[in-house]
Amino acid sequence: MPTDKSLEKKRRAAQAAVPYIESGMLLGIGTGSTVNELIEVLKERKIQLRGAVSSSSQTSEKLKAARIPELDLNTTGDLPLYIDGADEADADGVLIKGGGAALTREKVVAAASKRFICIIDDSKLVPVLGRFPLPVEVIPMARSYVARQIVKLGGQPVWREGTVTDNGNPILDVHNLKITDPKALESALNQIAGVVTVGLFAWRRADILIVAGDSDVRVLDIGARG
Ligand code: A5P
Repeated sequence: MPTDKSLEKKRRAAQAAVPYIESGMLLGIGTGSTVNELIEVLKERKIQLRGAVSSSSQTSEKLKAARIPELDLNTTGDLPLYIDGADEADADGVLIKGGGAALTREKVVAAASKRFICIIDDSKLVPVLGRFPLPVEVIPMARSYVARQIVKLGGQPVWREGTVTDNGNPILDVHNLKITDPKALESALNQIAGVVTVGLFAWRRADILIVAGDSDVRVLDIGARG
């Protein structure tokens, strides 16, 4: 359960993303408690959107409750902006995502968006990714095979029993990784037959990372670094 303090940080991270949202915009929206704060802020401030592309059934429900029209990515073309949380981030905007099992749709919407803003509280900012177990979505019949290949790569996969993604697939959470070369690891895991999506966002990382601390909100503009 998040403490009030952590929820307050999530709210402040969400608020700091609002200046990037233009009235009448088409917005991609991620999944999780931080994004839920963003949806609340959009509702409270009566920010009018053309519509939102959702990354999960959970977010779709929240959008419906906030009366924000949901659009199908197949009809929208690329999006100007995607906003999402993360489970872990480094200062280069590389992320671990999928703690809420929405990694595949999140990765698709992030890929289809010109700009990706990630909103987190400062507990998630780490020097080296991997403390948070890396989620990997697999097709059901490949679960054990993929797990064995991950062991060969040095990870310790644990089947997230009882969890099925919006796409009907299981998730392996990979422990004991120290991710010093995230692009190489993302590529290697993507090569394993049966892997649907790796929750490592290195090739499509965040362009802007908004980090809420106890008394401040930092904005890391990674895209502007070139
Ligand atoms: C969903 O699968 C995840 O990628 C979320 O983006 C991530 O877990 C962040 O969630 P919170 O905002 O609830 O921490």
